[in-house]
Amino acid sequence: MKKFTSVHDVPDPKTLVQEAMSLKANPFVHDALGRHKTLVMLFFNPSLRTRLSTEKAALNLGMSVISMNATEGWQLEFQDHVVMNSDKAEHIREAAGVISQYADVIGVRTFSSLTDHERDYADFVLNRFIEFASVPVVSLESAIRHPLQSLADCVTIEEHKTKARPKVVLTWAPHPRALPQAVANSFIEWMKVMDVDLTVTHPPGYELSPLFAEGVPIEYDQRKAFEGVDFIYCKNWSAYAPYGQILNQDPDWMVTMDKMNLTDNGKFMHCLPVRRNVKVEDAVLNSPISLVLQQANNRTYAAQAVLRRMIGE
Ligand code: CP
Repeated sequence: MKKFTSVHDVPDPKTLVQEAMSLKANPFVHDALGRHKTLVMLFFNPSLRTRLSTEKAALNLGMSVISMNATEGWQLEFQDHVVMNSDKAEHIREAAGVISQYADVIGVRTFSSLTDHERDYADFVLNRFIEFASVPVVSLESAIRHPLQSLADCVTIEEHKTKARPKVVLTWAPHPRALPQAVANSFIEWMKVMDVDLTVTHPPGYELSPLFAEGVPIEYDQRKAFEGVDFIYCKNWSAYAPYGQILNQDPDWMVTMDKMNLTDNGKFMHCLPVRRNVKVEDAVLNSPISLVLQQANNRTYAAQAVLRRMIGE
């Protein structure tokens, strides 16, 4: 596998989910595969889960890991034909080429600008790395997708489902800041290839890009959407149009135990970090119906399955 940026890079996503589950059962079965191989991870924004779980995944495979906070004192120029006489000291062409001299796999974590729709939805930064790197590149979250999170979420649903085809609801919830659409986009994309029935619920105006949401039912009544459901996946996102805007902060959209009681013994999911008592109330997060820590744990085995394919091929 030369790149892992979305479900479309994986010919057999369900098999990859099974591989992650198998690695969870036997994490060290390939611990010699990564010997003398190095993962270099670049973070253009902060991370707790992605950084630690991907590092752990690489270590489980016997790889060495180098992580770099790519924002501190290191400004990259991504555009071509620029006179580089401002604050940007290095061009992506050299930077990606140089990192490829030290890395067998490069991980890149970027965020959306939420101001430049065209650049974000072209996944410009991630794709410039892929263009100029000579080794495989894994997305550690991009402007529009978070595939390692989604793969871990698929594993979590597989582990906890009690029906062959569970009902899954992706619900918007309020947040004080404008957040990217990446997790929601990616979750939809992966749910479309899994054996689930997915519905999205959000206030009017929060419709996601048709690139992801096309064909997925929307229920604007959140309580109705929760009825009889097996998994509630909670996430905030800013509006797709007008791009990156906050249109609604209605606290009535917070996930509560009262709403969870409308589900069919439904489980609560969130990628974390989560703002307690803004997006979801304590009672839900503190109860056994919450799978947030299981999701975080599965990040390791999702990353391990992807890295194993990258260094094993
Ligand atoms: N869920 C997730 O990607 O968490 P981090 O931002 O901490 O990596």
